Amino acid sequence: MITTNENYSKLQASYLFSDIAKRVSRYQESHPDQSIIKLGIGDVTMPLPQCCIEAFHHAVDEMGAEASFRGYGPEQGYDFLRNVIAEHDFQSRGADVESDEIFISDGAKCDSGNIQEIFSSDITVAIPDPVYPVYLDTNVMAGRTGEYSDGRYQGIVYLDSTIENDFLPALPSQSVDLIYLCFPNNPTGSTISKEGLAKWVDFAHQEKALILFDAAYEAFIKDDSLPKSIFEIPGAEEVAIEFRSFSKNAGFTGTRCAFTVVPKKCRAFDKNGNIEMLHPLWNRRHSTKFNGVSYPVQRAAASIYTTEGKEQTRALIDYYMKNAEVIRSEMSGLGYDCVGGDNSPYIWISGKEDSWAFFDRLLNDAGVVCTPGAGFGKCGEGYIRLSAFNSYENVTSAMERIKKIL
Ligand code: MLT
Repeated sequence: MITTNENYSKLQASYLFSDIAKRVSRYQESHPDQSIIKLGIGDVTMPLPQCCIEAFHHAVDEMGAEASFRGYGPEQGYDFLRNVIAEHDFQSRGADVESDEIFISDGAKCDSGNIQEIFSSDITVAIPDPVYPVYLDTNVMAGRTGEYSDGRYQGIVYLDSTIENDFLPALPSQSVDLIYLCFPNNPTGSTISKEGLAKWVDFAHQEKALILFDAAYEAFIKDDSLPKSIFEIPGAEEVAIEFRSFSKNAGFTGTRCAFTVVPKKCRAFDKNGNIEMLHPLWNRRHSTKFNGVSYPVQRAAASIYTTEGKEQTRALIDYYMKNAEVIRSEMSGLGYDCVGGDNSPYIWISGKEDSWAFFDRLLNDAGVVCTPGAGFGKCGEGYIRLSAFNSYENVTSAMERIKKIL
């Protein structure tokens, strides 16, 4: 008899963003004349930078000629991409990351979900609240939690991020094995200082724990004193894995390219407490289950590290950050407390009412889609998240609509 993974029955009905998309399309069907402005899921709207278009065209031409055609590439990614990432994203900031510690993939979402396959199922996992739902849901699927009750899964150590702690969770007061951190944070937009991050690195050393650091939004950091990578913190290479993405900085949400850094010094332990290195484990998993990102996509990703590519991606980021500024200043002007939007594309807004009620009000009365904070966890109740990923025109008209109804 084929039986199903019973952990799936513990999950909430559907993935947050699928749930929102269904609500929006139901609303759209019943109000076909209402134009909708989406500031919900963080999906980019601006076209790919010109450097990527040119690199794509060139790579497609190469694939069309026998002499330059390529079949399977290295599962870990082509050196031309891994080398420029190591140099420009890490070494230039004093982070000692080598190109063979970088694994190119088709998304940080997939990587942050897949990585936990290399850890034992009976580890204790610490997850911030609110949080990008993938971290939690994938651990539920893997059987690392008990049942869901009162907005929380048993067995998870929740790291509350609230206004009281400036949305920077405190170190857990109990022993944990795996810690998820995301800065600039999704959903709150909060950032962490080097000193703050160093405390987590020290804690991971003390606890023999591992940090999974999601840096998908690092490109939005304007304050240069803030760390863009956890590997800017001495000692992090032994206790951390980092996820990065081309989705938000270069508009690759539909193109798909990302990478995960697993330093060769990064360690875990076997059941007897002996050190086991994670680089070979992830390499084994990656090369067994993944056949690499397509050649033209990797060429397009590599193009953003050229001088023109850097200028073009900077322009994209600045464009979205101008939207973020508009959202934050308009919502603050309406008397709402806001976090984020200064070093991140998300603005976390204290909604003065139930998150889903606020979501419904914005959708029904203004035709604006947000993300209800409660969808990111219990501590998100009472908040909504607005995303800066849309055109400037749409963002300003969404703000006009919101101002009319609030
Ligand atoms: C979000 O809106 O939180 C993100 O777009 C989700 C993602 O990147 O998968």
